[in-house]
Amino acid sequence: MARTAAIIAAAGSGERLGAKTPKAFVQLAGRTLIEHAFSSLSPLVDEVVIAAPATYEGKVQSLFGESAKVVTGGATRSASIAHALEAISPDIEFVLVHDAARALASTSLASRVIQALNDGEVAVIPALPVADTIKSINSDGYVTMTPDRTYLRAVQTPQGFTRQILNRAHQDSERNPDATDDAALVESLGEKVKVIEGEARALKITTGEDLERAMAILGLSRSDEIRSGIGVDAHAFSTDPNRKLHLACLDWAGEIGVDGHSDGDVAAHAICDALFSAAGIGDLGSNFGVDDPRYDGASGATLLREASNRVKNSGFEILNVSVQIVGNRPKLSPRRREAISALSIALGGAEVSVSATTTDGLGLTGEGRGIGASASALIIKRALRDVNVGSNT
Ligand code: CTP
Ligand code: MG
Repeated sequence: MARTAAIIAAAGSGERLGAKTPKAFVQLAGRTLIEHAFSSLSPLVDEVVIAAPATYEGKVQSLFGESAKVVTGGATRSASIAHALEAISPDIEFVLVHDAARALASTSLASRVIQALNDGEVAVIPALPVADTIKSINSDGYVTMTPDRTYLRAVQTPQGFTRQILNRAHQDSERNPDATDDAALVESLGEKVKVIEGEARALKITTGEDLERAMAILGLSRSDEIRSGIGVDAHAFSTDPNRKLHLACLDWAGEIGVDGHSDGDVAAHAICDALFSAAGIGDLGSNFGVDDPRYDGASGATLLREASNRVKNSGFEILNVSVQIVGNRPKLSPRRREAISALSIALGGAEVSVSATTTDGLGLTGEGRGIGASASALIIKRALRDVNVGSNT
């Protein structure tokens, strides 16, 4: 396989987006645009060189550590790419050039670009047909021509080149300082540029509206409602030696059980409370009243299933649940994975984490008189439903 590098142009200021930071550091779904761009390319290439805005080099380096080289960008995009090209290792044969602003371009798009280079192309660009009719105009605002839309394409990145062609193109770039893509420089050398099919998710994030579109592609929206909730539960160990212990949806043979309505699974109960409080639909008592015979002796898994259904019926999806078990025994760590899996299954596949602690000999749990648990839950009501999230494979 030819050794391949990726250059990510991230040195722009993002004037049209108008954020407080340069555009590459703007957040999209919990990660910066530059992190999105990096993660789609890095699995495919041998090295990544990032052109960072002046004075932000350290910040970019700290995001990626050893896995990227960082250079200072130039006054134009072309100048930024030219700086990055100088930093590429001598044995690199193919170079992908990508805009951090096209944060959601997929790994599969990049891999199709590399494939075309492997097939012998010297310059490869992804592009989509244009939906609008495009006109050329003059400086007075009059139409000079209407090109045939059939042959028009809106061009994206990552664009792929042999290193040699890209070097030649950039040696000449001063003659064309306003080039907004590298293919234009290669075209002016008279070399063939192959167009392959682009993808909607590789849109360039230029304005706030584009950022909203990118969020929509990820199934997110600024109007999503994200809510957190907390729950606590504790039960004393039973004086009945035959009472079995149920904790985190597991049976604990050889451990003393706890008293309580239902099966006394404090981890499950704390999670139910966290879910109800996040959704704003009451608590354990108001949902599964002690007087309700249906829940007498109910297992933790049954209650969790019912709680997650009620949360779902109020329009929310569970993002994650975290529970901490408090007590001297049982020792949780040997069965942590089992507990996570049992809780997650009861919650319909939600992400679960489980931790445990003791309380330095203090209180109900520290004195070994019982077990407690506290839980938090994060849930989301999506403003956009049934959107096509697109594929990253
Ligand atoms: N870019 C760059 N160096 C420059 C200018 C732009 O590396 N001197 C990069 C941007 O970071 C971006 C890509 O080129 O990833 C495409 O540019 P654009 O979308 O225009 O980004 P900005 O220049 O940051 O935005 P604006 O033009 O609104 O300021
Ligand atoms: Mg720009």
